[in-house]
Amino acid sequence: MKTRTLFRPVAPVPPRIRGSRLEAIRGVLRSDFSHFPERAYRRGIYSVPVIRRRVHMPTGPDIVRRVLVEEQANFPKSRVMQRLLEPLIGQSMFLTNGSHWARQRRMVDPTLELSRLKAFLPLMQAAVDEMMDRLRMEVGKPVDIEQETMRVTADILCRTVFSEQVPNGFVDELSAAFRRYQALTPAFIGLEMAMLPRWCLPLHAIRARREGQRIRSLLRPLISERIRAMAEGQHPEDLLSALVDAEDPETGHRFTEEELVDEVAFFFLAGHETTASALSWSFYLIANDRTAQALAAEEIAREIPGGKADFSALRKLRYNRDIWREALRLYPPVTTYIRDVATACPLGNESVETRDLVAVTPWLIQRSPRNWSHPELFDPDRFSTAKGKASMRAAYVPFNTGPRVCSGAAFATQETLLIMAEVLGTFVIHPIEGREPEPVAWLTQRARNGIWLRLELR
Ligand code: HEM
Repeated sequence: MKTRTLFRPVAPVPPRIRGSRLEAIRGVLRSDFSHFPERAYRRGIYSVPVIRRRVHMPTGPDIVRRVLVEEQANFPKSRVMQRLLEPLIGQSMFLTNGSHWARQRRMVDPTLELSRLKAFLPLMQAAVDEMMDRLRMEVGKPVDIEQETMRVTADILCRTVFSEQVPNGFVDELSAAFRRYQALTPAFIGLEMAMLPRWCLPLHAIRARREGQRIRSLLRPLISERIRAMAEGQHPEDLLSALVDAEDPETGHRFTEEELVDEVAFFFLAGHETTASALSWSFYLIANDRTAQALAAEEIAREIPGGKADFSALRKLRYNRDIWREALRLYPPVTTYIRDVATACPLGNESVETRDLVAVTPWLIQRSPRNWSHPELFDPDRFSTAKGKASMRAAYVPFNTGPRVCSGAAFATQETLLIMAEVLGTFVIHPIEGREPEPVAWLTQRARNGIWLRLELR
């Protein structure tokens, strides 16, 4: 059988050897992974000194498993993340540990279960219809697909959390405030890594608090209004009602109004840019692989002949799902998840101390030639081979794994497949010469100047 030439998507070429400390700092500030040398991808664990502590990045499946699953109590959510995000998401489940987190998880998980996702489909479809109207106006012109995916995923979250009741301009205002908050995070991460106090960046700290408060004050009135409406017997079928109703089966606890603001703000943080990022990279990848794009479009025409997907049709889009999986492997939206170390211990060949950090970095794990064959190439077919399936079980963590695995993975997959079905069923997507995206690892994996593509009506 003739093998086809696989597309090599854009990524920095790792230097052979580790550069100087200055080069490493430049790399961190550029946030583009260009400073990771080859051995960062090949070793079981890669450790770098950062002023007063060391940061350990495991890539070996056994070590990753120890951190995320087997010994996860020894590697709690880091205070770095807590200080970074607390002004925005308070004490949401993303930041807590131990019994507090376990209670939140017991309450939040049922709000995202499969039967509810089915009910969300019409709400998602309404947002996608508006996106399609916008995209039809852009046919033939260069379009920044990242902007469009950001907008539609924010719209989907607004509709699934609040039904239709958001004020005009709310989605855009909320997304802009989240963007401004995100822009402050690289400087804070650098500060925290070096164990320097916040007052080293006083203006950043003031702006973070201000943006956090702005986002929370946009959400709070909608939440208070809902609590009042539900007390009067109304019950819209959306995520907010499910959160207001949530009750911990073990303690009987229900979310207070402030806790609801924490969780809803976190849902926007967790579920908006992440999905948008992987979607826009999926479109970039298939724009550059005509064969994969044709196969994806054929599958959509076959499984959704009427043009509008229902819940069961989406689940049949296996090839489209594998394109999405491959985008999540090559450009994992959550670039790093950071853990503290409760008790010093050996990890691979390293001794890990309590002042150190463990930074689980899916980019390194999922691009390691120890874990994946031809890791730098776009190959959605890999997931149907025995080797690819084994790699997926061992070294595929875009949604984390173990007890803290993402609660919204099925939600994200559903909205993604819905959007892919509409876009690829309607348009052929072309790359634009000279406008290669440049991956950058901010809070999510983004492209520095957007992802520019051209749409043609099919
Ligand atoms: C492609 C899209 C997404 C990706 C790649 C993603 C990835 C992740 C990752 C890596 C974590 C764990 C972080 C850590 O352990 O430090 C996480 C946690 C979480 N995600 Fe997602 N996520 C996505 C979409 C969503 C959506 C749409 C929602 C909800 C609507 C959501 C809800 C959550 C929640 C509630 C947690 C916290 C789990 C816990 O701490 O127990 N995510 N996500």
